[in-house]
Amino acid sequence: MTDRYCVFGHPVGHSKSPAIHAAFADQAGDDIEYVAIEAPLDDFAGAWRRFVAEGGRGANVTVPFKEDAFHLCDTLSERARRAGAVNTLVLGSNGLTYGDTTDGVGLVRDLKRHGVELTGARILVLGAGGAVRGVLEPLLAEEPAGLRVANRTAAKAEALAADFRDLGEIVGGGFDAVEGAYDLVINGTSASLAGDLPPLPDNLLAPDASAYDMMYGAEPTVFLRWAAERGAHIVDGLGMLVEQAAESFFQWRGRHPDTAPVLEKLRQVL
Ligand code: ATR
Repeated sequence: MTDRYCVFGHPVGHSKSPAIHAAFADQAGDDIEYVAIEAPLDDFAGAWRRFVAEGGRGANVTVPFKEDAFHLCDTLSERARRAGAVNTLVLGSNGLTYGDTTDGVGLVRDLKRHGVELTGARILVLGAGGAVRGVLEPLLAEEPAGLRVANRTAAKAEALAADFRDLGEIVGGGFDAVEGAYDLVINGTSASLAGDLPPLPDNLLAPDASAYDMMYGAEPTVFLRWAAERGAHIVDGLGMLVEQAAESFFQWRGRHPDTAPVLEKLRQVL
């Protein structure tokens, strides 16, 4: 029987994951089925159980189910435990469900692919929601010189930084506490969706700085335009999307797909 995988979301019709995983599978003539499933908002665990009963081997999980997925897992990776969220479910041969979060690895791989140096870098992360929580562990593992989390609601950034303080140099606060220059600024707020720009000091970017937005689109986000006007090297989050998918694929199939051609194709149809 063909191994079945899916992405759970609500809504999920817009998801690029089926196309990405179909492309990964095609690379090695791997015969898998990957579909998008709109799970009911009040019964994510039931949706996963039904999928497994129908031959499901693993799943990606997107908004709004990443915390529900976290709670149903029998075992978790350390980074998923830290994130409090799961974007990858794996059905073990023992029938137990293992959960991981691959967003942070995806971000770090995409940054490296763009030649962004993380070790020893001064990093500023904007936002303190689930998207940011999911990437802090892999970023700190690269041993930056320091990482500041800045958020509209300062207390959320302070609490988030406290949760990760044992892993490295990390502080949190409001936008008004941001000072000095950064080598890398990552926008993990959803402000871009509304076309908003977090209030940032003008002299934020060090010479040769990079700016990364976890969002992507046909045009650069307001944040990336702001950074480009100040001379930064800008990167949007499409590569992160493909890289997190590749890490999930690896966990299911034991093979690292070639992400470059898949990313190039996606970019063409944005
Ligand atoms: P996600 O799962 O995408 O992280 P979330 O948990 O709702 O979603 O978090 C959204 C983040 O974007 C938060 O950091 C939020 O700031 P607050 O904690 O102050 O709400 C931030 N955000 C959303 N809209 C924003 C805006 N217009 N300007 C600045 N920050 C914004």
